[in-house]
Amino acid sequence: MRKGILSIGAAAAALTLGLTACGGESGDTSAQSGGTSSAAAGDAKPGKIGVILPDSKSSARWESADRKYLEEAFKAAGVQYDIQNAQGDKTAFQTIADQMITNGATVLMIVNLDSGTGKAVLDKAKSQGVATIDYDRLTLGGSAAYYVSFDNTKVGQLQGEGLVKCLTDKKADKPIIAELNGSPTDNNATLFKQGYDSVLEPKYKSGEYKKGPDQSVPDWDNTQAGTIFEQMLTQEPKIAGVLAANDGLGNAVISVLKKQKLNGKIPVTGQDATVQGLQNILAGDQCMTVYKAIKKEADAASQLAIALAKGEKPQVSGSVHDPEGNRDVPSVLLEPQAIYFDNVKDVVNDGFVTKDELCTGEFADKCTEAGIS
Ligand code: BGC
Repeated sequence: MRKGILSIGAAAAALTLGLTACGGESGDTSAQSGGTSSAAAGDAKPGKIGVILPDSKSSARWESADRKYLEEAFKAAGVQYDIQNAQGDKTAFQTIADQMITNGATVLMIVNLDSGTGKAVLDKAKSQGVATIDYDRLTLGGSAAYYVSFDNTKVGQLQGEGLVKCLTDKKADKPIIAELNGSPTDNNATLFKQGYDSVLEPKYKSGEYKKGPDQSVPDWDNTQAGTIFEQMLTQEPKIAGVLAANDGLGNAVISVLKKQKLNGKIPVTGQDATVQGLQNILAGDQCMTVYKAIKKEADAASQLAIALAKGEKPQVSGSVHDPEGNRDVPSVLLEPQAIYFDNVKDVVNDGFVTKDELCTGEFADKCTEAGIS
């Protein structure tokens, strides 16, 4: 599915080389709701950039990382922007998009809640001459001009390999594996599953592992994830490893395991390197997470958005195939990194989480042990 991976350095170079300036005048510098900064004084003022984030519950990342890094990039460039969060509401998502366009957005960047509603938003924006970017999640059958994300199959592969590593460390014999997948309407969840199943399926087939319950969690809802996992464990009390698709789902699993005093005995995976996920790793309750350097993702996407807002036509050298729309979407895809107890410090050193937020209370000693100073 993936045609080319572009490092961020290469993306930046491609962007600088491929710019075709078309001018573009936007006289309106009036402030918009929530975090709008005025355009830098100059002749051709860039247009406004609208960003719609999906929710604040399926992962801590959207509000704690993506919003922050996008905001920083837009402020530094002096462009007008409006970042809003649809809070999981598909109707609100459409309304926000309409309002952004009415208020003069010339670039719209979205993290869809599902491909169907995402497509409606993108198509409408396009028909009104608004440039569009799919951020993190590809809208299948959609019309975004660009897609910026991570190599999501690789993310899943790292999770699969991580679970194998932790089960090997525990010398697990013919472990029964439960899979708790992300939202069935998120194309990323499909890619993550392709990635981890490419590692786990051969082990099921050879009899080295036994396939246990395998279920998707609607909207990545952490509360539902807890209920689903509780049922899994009732149905199959000998579950010995859990592939949880992100840190939120992983934490829901860990909470259930804690009630049965099974935490730490059964490896659980995750994704996003959230403070909670990293603390679960430090505590020994979570086996690994996948760190996606969201600053790089936000930087790549905002560079594209800023160029588009200036009326330029940025070029990127990668592309991703959208099987539903049967088209290649110009893309920037970044590399994810697996995180275990020993390299939690990499996430801190990269500035993604601070020692202060991570090494609180009971985690202080664990931080020292993990070399976080
Ligand atoms: C993102 C993950 C996130 C999940 C839930 C996915 O599309 O790639 O980083 O954990 O959505 O929000």
